[in-house]
Amino acid sequence: MKFPAFKVLFPNELILRRAQELARQIHVATAPEPPMLVAVIEGARPFARLLQKFVPGSLPVHEVRAQSYAGTQSSGKVTITTGADLPVRGRHVLLLEDIVDTGRTIAALQEHFLAKGARSCRVASLLSKPSRRVVPVTIDFLGFEIPDEFVLGFGMDLDGRYRELPDVVVYDAAVEREFQAQATATQA
Ligand code: IMP
Repeated sequence: MKFPAFKVLFPNELILRRAQELARQIHVATAPEPPMLVAVIEGARPFARLLQKFVPGSLPVHEVRAQSYAGTQSSGKVTITTGADLPVRGRHVLLLEDIVDTGRTIAALQEHFLAKGARSCRVASLLSKPSRRVVPVTIDFLGFEIPDEFVLGFGMDLDGRYRELPDVVVYDAAVEREFQAQATATQA
């Protein structure tokens, strides 16, 4: 076993099927003018690759990186460190995100790109945790809603770990410790 036995929330096949449905919705809703796809990296890369594959038209995927800092009050400030200068003027932008949590990242990116002259800035997200929302955001194309749990896999990480898991799983520190203990015992 390569990974700890975390609880699987969404197996890879289900993610694939849902992404196909979302791609169809995106195609119908955005025709005849294909949107400019902008993936929020790193996490949204696998989701963006799927949508790129399924939305007709071989659209390129642009990338934006945003970092959020927990402020002195709890109003986290979001800084765009990559892709702030993407040529969005006059374009219909579609942000591709792995998970919308407080909503701060997506809200900041929408504000930024609309201020830069994008004609619209819609959102497709694989996951959403509505109970955690601090800033209201509209997710135009949503894969799945989840409860307030920390999830990993399919691009989502914990300090760089578990991004490459094919399924979306629920993080459990005890399961991880057990896995690490077994790995150490096997090596000894
Ligand atoms: P927001 O700005 O609070 O909506 O945060 C969005 C970002 O937080 C996502 O793009 C993820 O990088 C990260 N994030 C939020 N919840 C999770 C989670 O459950 N697992 C992994 N990353 C998460």
